[in-house]
Amino acid sequence: MNFLNWLQNTPVAIFVAETLWAYPLLETMHTLGMAMLLGSLGLINLRVLGYKRALPIIGTRDLLPVAWIGFSINAFSGLMLFTSDAVNFFSSNTFRVKITLIVIAGINAAILSRKLYTSGGDDAALVALPGVKGLAASSLVFWVVAVICGRIYAYYPYYSY
Ligand code: HEM
Repeated sequence: MNFLNWLQNTPVAIFVAETLWAYPLLETMHTLGMAMLLGSLGLINLRVLGYKRALPIIGTRDLLPVAWIGFSINAFSGLMLFTSDAVNFFSSNTFRVKITLIVIAGINAAILSRKLYTSGGDDAALVALPGVKGLAASSLVFWVVAVICGRIYAYYPYYSY
C-alpha cells in the first residue's frame, strides 16, 4: 500500500482529485474511449456471431485502429482517475475484477483478430474456424461485465465491494 499512498499524494493525483474540471473531463474521456473500444470490438464480435452478414469480415479489420485508440484513451484516463484515490480503488474487489477482465478480454481480442485476419478464406470459412465463435461470445461477456464492474465501484462505497 506504500506505493499507492505515494501515488495518491503525487501532484498529478492531487490535481485530478481537487481541480473542479479534471475529474469530470477524465470521466468524459473514459466514456468516449469506452464507446470507441466497445463500439468497434463489439461489432467485430457480433459479425462473427452472425449479425450483419452483408459486412465482409476482412473489412472489419479497419475497425481495429478505432479499438486501439479507444483502449489507449481509457488506459490513460482510467489511470488518472485511479491516482486520485488509489488506496480505496485498489481495495475494491469490483475494481480488481474489472482490471482482470480487461486483461483477459485484451488477450481474447488479440487471439481472435489473429485468427480472423491472418487465416484467409471467405467469410463462411472464417466463422467456421475452431474457437472463433466462442472467442467472440466470451469477448462480449468479458467487456460487458467489465463495464458493469466500472459502474458498480463508481457509485457504491468501495469498501462494501
Ligand atoms: C479499457 C477498458 C475500460 C472500460 C470499458 C472501463 C469502463 C469503466 C466504466 C463503465 C466506469 C464507470 C464510469 C462512470 O459511470 O462514472 C469506469 C470507471 C473507472 N475506471 Fe474504467 N474502464 C476501462 C479501463 C480502465 C483502466 C485501465 C483503469 C485504471 C487502471 C480504469 C479505472 C477506472 C476508475 C478509477 C473509475 C472510477 C471512476 C469513478 O469512481 O468516478 N478503467 N470505467
